[in-house]
Parts: sequence; C-alpha cells; structure tokens
Amino acid sequence: MGQVYVNDHPLVADGLTQLRDAATGSAEFRRIIARLTYVQTNEALRDLKLKPVEVTTPLTTTQGQRLAERIAIVPILRAGLGMVDAMLEAMPDAEVRHLGFYRDEQTLQPVEYYHKLPSNDPPDVAVVVDPMLATGGSANAAIEALKRWAVPRIKLMSILGAPEGVAAVQHAHSDVSIYVCTIDEKLNDHGYIMPGLGDAGDRIFGT
Ligand code: PRP
Ligand code: URA
Repeated sequence: MGQVYVNDHPLVADGLTQLRDAATGSAEFRRIIARLTYVQTNEALRDLKLKPVEVTTPLTTTQGQRLAERIAIVPILRAGLGMVDAMLEAMPDAEVRHLGFYRDEQTLQPVEYYHKLPSNDPPDVAVVVDPMLATGGSANAAIEALKRWAVPRIKLMSILGAPEGVAAVQHAHSDVSIYVCTIDEKLNDHGYIMPGLGDAGDRIFGT
C-alpha cells in the first residue's frame, strides 16, 4: 500500500524557502532543487534490496552488499530534468527513461509529447520525478505508462505537492508511495500551487 512521506528535515525547510523566493535566480534554483532531490532520493529508496558480495579491501576480504535491483529514474519533461543529476549522483547505475507531458493551460490536462518506454523488460523499481505535483494529472499519466510497461514497484518523488494532487494520485494509484518535501495549501484557479514557487520548468531553465 502506498503512503505519503513529507520530509520535515530543517535543511529541507531552509531550501524550500529559498526556492519559493522570487528573487532566487535560475542557477541557485537548480542547485537547491538538486540538493533537495539528493536528500529525497535517500529517503525514497530506503527499501531497495541488497545482495551480499565479497569485497577485497587493501588489507583483507570481507562481506559487503551491492544493490540487487534495477532502478529507473523517470523524469517528466521538462522540470523533472532538474532532478535527474542529483539522483544519478546517489544511484549512478540507475537508468533514465524520459516522459514528456505539458499541461494544457485551459483544461489542465496532461498532453503527452515524448514517450519511448520499451514494451518489455521493465526495471524492478521506477521513480517518477517532477518537482511539482499540482492536479496530479501529469504524475498519474506517467504512472499509467509505467504500469503498461509492467513495472512492479513505482514511486513518485516531487518537491512541492498540492493536497489536490496528492489525493488524485492516491485515488488513482493507491499502490504508489509519494515523497514530497512539503504539501502546500491549495491550487489557485489556474492550477498553480499556492503559495508555491511559480513555474518550476521556467525557473529551472530560465525561460
Ligand atoms: C508542470 C510540472 C508538472 C506539471 C504539474 O509542468 O513540472 O509536470 O506541471 O501539474 P499537474 O500535476 O497539474 O499535472 P508543465 O506542464 O508546466 O511543463 P514544463 O515542465 O515543461 O514547464
Ligand atoms: N506546475 C508548476 O510548475 N507550478 C505549479 O505551481 C503548478 C504546476
């Protein structure tokens, strides 16, 4: 059964406040997104399975552990790209599978524009990454694509969640755990998270 994890670490609260600040420029914004993503990755992948291996140190041989699972990082374009490098820092052997969705400004429905998932050989674990979980439409569409690929364990990692988006993902995919740094108050009439941080893609890419 999926759960919702909110990271209440003081370093996360500090970073979030800098992200919200309209005066924070793109370069700093990207660095903070990366820092928060690294922290979140460590929390979200806590249940990864390990296998025992023998390792030879400069002094002796001993028992160690290596990851036993194949992991896919699945960024939703564009803003999810801002989280990929930090995740690869934590899990250098993970594969990256991109999905492209943009939100139609009128309907707020996700429109797919890039999808190259294979039809077989799914990874053991896939982590959908997108800094913003607003209505939940984009996240749900990405999760559905991963379920069609038959990925057995799917997680969703975001920086900011809206209560509406968290509820929508829980309703549609109760098996998917959600990891956010915080859950804000609500969505405004244009589907933006309030108080939020604005348009994450624009702030990451300086557009
Ligand atoms: C933003 C964000 C999510 C989506 C969240 O992307 O990065 O993908 O909106 O909204 P939802 O939960 O209501 O679906 P956007 O469509 O602005 O595209 P971008 O990343 O290219 O800026
Ligand atoms: N996408 C964003 O980038 N920001 C929001 O507040 C909502 C959706």
